[in-house]
Amino acid sequence: MLKAIVIYNSRGGNTKEVAMKIAEGLEAEHKNHKNIPDLENYDLLVLGSWMIMGMVSFAGARYLRKLRKKKIDGKKVVLFFTSGAPDDIHPMTENKVPKKIKEVMFEKMERIVNKKNQITILPERFYCKGAIRVLKHGEPKEPIGHPTEEELAQAKAFGEMLKEKL
Ligand SMILES: Cc1cc2nc3c(=O)[nH]c(=O)nc-3n(C[C@H](O)[C@H](O)[C@H](O)COP(=O)(O)O)c2cc1C
Repeated sequence: MLKAIVIYNSRGGNTKEVAMKIAEGLEAEHKNHKNIPDLENYDLLVLGSWMIMGMVSFAGARYLRKLRKKKIDGKKVVLFFTSGAPDDIHPMTENKVPKKIKEVMFEKMERIVNKKNQITILPERFYCKGAIRVLKHGEPKEPIGHPTEEELAQAKAFGEMLKEKL
């Protein structure tokens, strides 16, 4: 059995909720981007972030970039993210070769974390919608809508599928 960890960054809590569910299904630990442990003993890194203005969130891009400096050579990586929009055509690709939001985001995340081609990005990926939460006094307010119970169940099932497969 491979040793796995779920790492994420989250502003409003959606990505955290999804990360926790994936970790539950995978029976692995989960850590936010500020508490990443030594990764030497892990085989599988499940890495998540969220979308801001069509891009990977800044803290997400930063932690993914920093991972390159950790000893992650040869590890397997699975990516996930949340965003407010459904999986439509990404606005920044409309006038070029149109690509779906999911495709663009996963490509961006992959390019950041795997610049040195030192890891294996697995084809298994997870995406779900996350409603924008208004932060009040630094605390997330109750979510409106997404991720729904069903989407969280899908996140757990995704974790279970990874566990089964790996
Ligand atoms: C400032 C800001 C900008 C956002 N920009 C986008 C965007 O360009 N496209 C999109 O689909 N969702 C966008 N979202 C929605 C978030 O990606 C979505 O709510 C996500 O689930 C937030 O994750 P979190 O709760 O883990 O922070 C934005 C949210 C915020 C707060």
